[in-house]
Amino acid sequence: MRIGGSENAMEEGFIDVGPADLTEGELRGLEVGERLVLVVRHQGRITAMDDSCNHAGCLLSGGWLHQRKAAVVCPCHEYAFELGSGRNLTIPRLCDDQCAFEVRVERGRVMIRFPRE
Ligand code: FES
Repeated sequence: MRIGGSENAMEEGFIDVGPADLTEGELRGLEVGERLVLVVRHQGRITAMDDSCNHAGCLLSGGWLHQRKAAVVCPCHEYAFELGSGRNLTIPRLCDDQCAFEVRVERGRVMIRFPRE
């Protein structure tokens, strides 16, 4: 799903990336400007992180949720990244944590704030 991107800059640097209509357990991959972003609803909470796995670039949105760990599992080598923090939960840790983003839901829309570069 392609999103307009930079024109949607809102107060405090949050960007509107689309409707907050994710179903429970849905992994949704978005293009936000130049970034690939994964948004997930798990136990009612929406979180976001880079969709491109920092291990070898596979898309986490093609993976699955690990319910007990509250993590997304990459489809390529099955590394697990914690929802909300992006922390790599897989041992041995052969890649970094995923970059996770701040999320707000306002008026039925998912708002994400990317870190300053
Ligand atoms: S590309 Fe994601 S675990 Fe290897």
